[in-house]
Amino acid sequence: MTPAATARDARTEPDGGLDQAGLLRELEPVVARNLDRHLAAAKEWFPHTYVPWSDGENFDGPLDGVAWEPGQSKLDETARTSLILNLLTEDNLPSYHHEIAVLFGRDGAWGTWVHRWTAEEGRHGTAIRDYLLTTRAVDPVELERARMTHMSTGYISPHSQRAVNSIAYVSFQELATRISHRNTGVHAGEPVCERLLAKIANDENLHMVFYRNLLGAAFEVAPDEAAVAVLDVARNFQMPGATVENYARKSVKIAMAGIYNLRIHRDEVLLPVLRNIRYFERDDLGPEGEQAREELDALLGGLDTAARRFEEKRDAYLARQAARAQ
Ligand SMILES: [Fe+2]
Ligand SMILES: [Fe+2]
Repeated sequence: MTPAATARDARTEPDGGLDQAGLLRELEPVVARNLDRHLAAAKEWFPHTYVPWSDGENFDGPLDGVAWEPGQSKLDETARTSLILNLLTEDNLPSYHHEIAVLFGRDGAWGTWVHRWTAEEGRHGTAIRDYLLTTRAVDPVELERARMTHMSTGYISPHSQRAVNSIAYVSFQELATRISHRNTGVHAGEPVCERLLAKIANDENLHMVFYRNLLGAAFEVAPDEAAVAVLDVARNFQMPGATVENYARKSVKIAMAGIYNLRIHRDEVLLPVLRNIRYFERDDLGPEGEQAREELDALLGGLDTAARRFEEKRDAYLARQAARAQ
């Protein structure tokens, strides 16, 4: 089937928009192909082998061990903050599973992907928690209370109404998560932590590739709808952990440390995905897609200005800190 014929078939809604079930059907063979590619690329790994169990000891409570105190942590406050934020984000997996299982379905290649992806994501929270508790890197009581609060809130994706928006969102979000884990590990400056987070980041990268390939295929099916979806998602992008308590304060700390900030978001998350799907080079867009492209170009310009302003403020702050320390 030619892309044009496919696009016509998929556009069956009264408002001329993309029929969701139609798009998912069109993408099913692409999902099947990318599932095979993913399974061939993803090497089995064992989270328990990345946790330094012999560093651990019992805690106070029923086992009458040693209570946690801040001096036991080998990590600085920023690394702890980032690890907790990333872990709480991973913890909300049941909500993410619900969202994609409802949207993508649990049958055929889509269903196989939904369950496989969930199984891979499941090891991230487990591994990070095991590491944090074994090494006494964070307050275990505070961590557990934060998990209860965060998971009790749950997560509802603002993009789940439209499949193509969801696919665009997860393409960016998996890459953002990959970078966030990787940079947290580097910032932590602790080899065991860094190795574990690099391993997790590698999983996130394979997830990103899967979704990015689907996004590319969605452009072949319905270029205008896909172009508008990418604009919507880039405009309203929020990390899935944004509902974690005190997120704003945490994210400033993480931004200042260069783990994740506006510059990284624009240059290392948005731009690489846009380049890969040839967003600005396509010649198959109608007026609606062209309009979206212009708006996204302006948005990226605005992000660049905002990122520069942030960098200037950060550099001035760091210079003041350095002067004070002398
Ligand atoms: Fe993950
Ligand atoms: Fe992932």
